[in-house]
Amino acid sequence: TEQTTWSQRFESALHPAIACFNASIGFDIELIEYDLTGSVAHAKMLAHTGIISPEEGEKLVAGLEQIRQEYRQGNFNPGIDAEDVHFAVERRLTEIAGDVGKKLHTARSRNDQVGTDTRLYLRAQISQIRIQLREFQSVLLNIAEANVETLIPGYTHLQRAQPLSLAHHLLAYFEMLQRDWERLGEIAQRVNTSPLGCGALAGTTFPIDRHYTASLLEFAGVYRNSLDGVSDRDFAIEFLCAASLILVHLSRLSEEIILWASQEFGFVTLKDTCSTGSSIMPQKKNPDVPELVRGKTGRVFGHLQAMLVLMKGLPLAYNKDLQEDKEALFDTVKTVTGCLEAMTILLREGMEFKSERLAEAVDEDFSNATDVADYLASKGIPFREAYNLVGKVVRTCLQSDKLLKDLSLEEWQALHPAFEGDIYQAIAPTQVVAARNSYGGTGFEQVRQALQEARDRLVSG
Ligand code: ARG
Repeated sequence: TEQTTWSQRFESALHPAIACFNASIGFDIELIEYDLTGSVAHAKMLAHTGIISPEEGEKLVAGLEQIRQEYRQGNFNPGIDAEDVHFAVERRLTEIAGDVGKKLHTARSRNDQVGTDTRLYLRAQISQIRIQLREFQSVLLNIAEANVETLIPGYTHLQRAQPLSLAHHLLAYFEMLQRDWERLGEIAQRVNTSPLGCGALAGTTFPIDRHYTASLLEFAGVYRNSLDGVSDRDFAIEFLCAASLILVHLSRLSEEIILWASQEFGFVTLKDTCSTGSSIMPQKKNPDVPELVRGKTGRVFGHLQAMLVLMKGLPLAYNKDLQEDKEALFDTVKTVTGCLEAMTILLREGMEFKSERLAEAVDEDFSNATDVADYLASKGIPFREAYNLVGKVVRTCLQSDKLLKDLSLEEWQALHPAFEGDIYQAIAPTQVVAARNSYGGTGFEQVRQALQEARDRLVSG
């Protein structure tokens, strides 16, 4: 069998099943571009500080860039015997550059190396996800801007509560995603700290320059403590937490879309490009996209939980347990990215609000009852008294199968002499929405203001 990097120390070869169990090359090949970039910076630093000669530095860099080309052309496919991406690259480099390749790992450990790779990877992914969040926000905002005066029932306890501007409802999601975007920006600052040069755990005997590699790799700073630098995974947990929140938000929206698309609600129709059929029921058209988003949310929560448990009992510094961080991160990135893409397409072109059905919906319930109580309260009747009176009215209406708008002026005035002819206007759905003009409310004036501010934030951020 082939020799491993460390086999001189050992009398016999690794059991093949254990070699497989131990190896991470099957998944950490995903880090290769970042590993090469990190190694290029390390090689340049070795030359810069005189630890190796300038010519040696150039040979290392050229060899690493050749591996990058080979990988991009599909010609670098290390097998399980390489153990991990770091050994695979070093081995190939030595094939290409000869003995000088063996100098690359001077003053470095795989422990600071893998930490560097993971941070470079995550930094790039976070910036991609933030772009996707912006795209999704912009789609939400476009729909909202076109639907300021489209009304939709608002619910608490999934019971009709008060009607809303559809724009207001969609802007609630815009705000959640705005926090997600900001949160990722904050986390990115901590991800962007260099552990390179922390060595295995204690630093190194060579006169390295950690700030030099950090600045080549565009890290904003370096870890101050070598033990912390190689064993910290807070940045990964923070990312998994932010990713979990993104999916909480997407999943809540998904749940609403699934409800809205049901015959019972009938608030939206899903286009053929974004829904699927049944193998047996010919009439079916299923909201698979939001269902999958709702379903995939669980696995990201799982990764967060796994990572927390992974860390809680680890003694300093590096332990092999930490190899488990990668699949959690990779799968989370893939899941968040996929969900954001699918939801953006669904909202942009795969779904239509049924405005007639929505108008009907807000006109057929008692969601204007608060407004009757407010009407009386604004005429000086104590709110609780007004509220009790309207409760009684609702009860009698239900008994006679009437809505509030069906009561005659005589009936209103029999209930309370303060009612006048303008009660009908006060309980019309459009007025009910318009009247909630308090800051952050659903009143059209507020919503227009909120849309403007949302637009400004999208453009300026
Ligand atoms: N594949 C390893 C990981 O992902 C690289 C670091 C190995 N370090 C070690 N001391 N065995 O964590």
